[in-house]
Order: sequence, then C-alpha cells, then structure tokens
Amino acid sequence: EVYNPNGKYRVVSTKPMPGTRWINLLIEQDCRLEICTQKKTILSVEDIISLIGDKCDGVIGQLTEDWGEKLFSALSRAGGKAFSNMAVGYNNVDVNAANKYGVAVGNTPGVLTETTAELAASLSLSAARRIVEADEFMRAGLYDGWLPHLFVGNLLKGQTVGVIGAGRIGSAYARMMVEGFKMNLIYYDLYQATRLEKFVTAYGQFLKANGEQPVTWKRASTMEEVLREADVISLHPVLDKTTYHLVNKERLAMMKKEAILINCSRGPVIDEVALVEHLKATPMFRVGLDVFEDEPYMKPGLAEMKNAIVVPHIASASKWTREGMATLAALNVLGKIKGYPIWSDPNR
Ligand code: DGY
Repeated sequence: EVYNPNGKYRVVSTKPMPGTRWINLLIEQDCRLEICTQKKTILSVEDIISLIGDKCDGVIGQLTEDWGEKLFSALSRAGGKAFSNMAVGYNNVDVNAANKYGVAVGNTPGVLTETTAELAASLSLSAARRIVEADEFMRAGLYDGWLPHLFVGNLLKGQTVGVIGAGRIGSAYARMMVEGFKMNLIYYDLYQATRLEKFVTAYGQFLKANGEQPVTWKRASTMEEVLREADVISLHPVLDKTTYHLVNKERLAMMKKEAILINCSRGPVIDEVALVEHLKATPMFRVGLDVFEDEPYMKPGLAEMKNAIVVPHIASASKWTREGMATLAALNVLGKIKGYPIWSDPNR
C-alpha cells in the first residue's frame, strides 16, 4: 500500500498499524509511505531487506523482527537514517549494530504504561478468582446450581503484591493493586523507584488522614525476598542477558504454593519448561502469561494446564495505546529524517 507516491522521503512500515494519525503525519511531511500488507505474520530478514530496497530513508518495524547487523547494513546502504520499533521493548534490536551503521533507533514508551499495567492487573484478578476456568465450566454446561466450594479463589485485599522491576509499567501496576485492591506491597528494582516511592508514601498518609486501615510497603533488598513473601508476583524487567530465565526452577520453588505469577514483560524472563513442571507439581500455584519463551509457541504441556491463563501478547492492545504507539514510531522516524532530535531514543 503506497501513500503520497511522489513524496521526497521513502518510509517503509513493515506492518499496517492502527489509526490514521501516523499516516497523515508522514504524508504531510513529504514522505512517500509504503506499508507492507503481506499476509505472513512474522517477516524474515530477507523479506525486510527486499522491502528496504535501494532507497529508503526510514523504517517502522515490529518486535517480531530481528533487527541486527544484516538489516541495519541494508538500511544504511539504502541511505536510511532511522528505525523505530513499534514497542517499548527493544530486545529484538541490536542497538550496537544500528550505531555502527549510523542508524538512529527509537521505541515507544509512555503511551502503553497504563494499558500494559491494566492487563497485568486483569490477569492477576482472573487468576485469583479463577475466571477462565469458571467461564469454561459454564460454557461446557456443567453448572447445575450454587455450591459453597465452587471456584473458590483468593481475596486480594490484605494479601501482598510483589513487583519485580519497578519502572514505568511495574510502578503503574503496583499502584493499581495497592490503591484499587488494598494490597500490601513488596518490590525489587536495581535502581531507585522514585515514582513508586512517592506514591506509596503519599497514599499511606492519605489512608492515615482518613482513618483507614494502612497498607504496608517495602523495598526488598533481594529478588528472592519478593518471591518468598508475595502472594501475587508480577514481572516487569527488561529482557537482557541478566534477566534471561530470571525465574527458574529454584526460584519457582521459593514461591508460596498458592502464589500467582504474572508475566507481561518478555517470555524468556521465565524458564517455561521449569514453569510447566512447577504448574503440574503445584496445582494451587497459578500463572497469567501474556508472553512466551518461543513466541508464538508455548512449551509443551502449558496449554493443558488449568492453573495457567495464557493470552497472545496483548498487554498494549488498547485502541488509544496502539494508535499512540504508531504515532510515536512515525514521529521517531520523521524526527530523524528531518533532523530533529529523535523523539524517544533508547540510547538516552
Ligand atoms: C512492547 O511494547 O514492548 C510490548 O511488548 C508490545 O506492546
């Protein structure tokens, strides 16, 4: 699909993206925009090299693509200056290779913070109250009357929520769970979590001033402390060498037998084979997963587990957010082409 065929700058988007604001922005700024409409969900490096062609000023790409040496050298040969991932995570992008070929890299933080945190919260609630199992039970025609033991789950109020990685998304999630469900909080982060600390301090004062029961919160000095103490644990680290299989067999064994584990970050943060074993051996342990180690696949056995809720990487999938991500990605590329500082550069 081609917009503004006579535009001066050639910009390629490897996928159609939601909304029209990003399209209009590019065409108003003299870009010829080419959107790849191939049916194939995941494009190969070769597919993208042929999209780049001989002349290309910038590319908007997706987290399913392998943006390494081959693609950045092809883009640079075609005269390209800018690449933006339509995602906040950029573990699919080799930033060193981009730097080597003089291509600026952008990502799309901010616009997906609340949407992603809302999905982590939805999975937490769904796991705690066994919503998916109960829905399947109803649809299978198995409900034959109210029973005291039917789908008993846990009350979040007064339980402890554990957050690993208290950046933008982790902090927004913590806030939802503390404020919305009156959970106590324990969190772990390598860096200062100023945003979250300000919130919990102010919220504690608010509860006290209103004579309401306080919630407790603490910063853990080790990740293991969170794993041992929390009832619901949500993972929000970036994926890099240090966080690959952060949750492994040993760490799963540290968690409470009835704990709930949520992952809306990146699949390889959990050793999924160890997780399947743990789910089999610990039926009251529950998990809510938006991401998988070998996406789009699940490790054998995971799909059969009743104590797992699995959804297809939809944490940022609200209309407002996806349109915002597309707009931000277009601004990143446009900014660089036009010589403005790139909007959101993960190197910064
Ligand atoms: C991201 O942005 O990194 C998410 O995984 C998709 O929105």
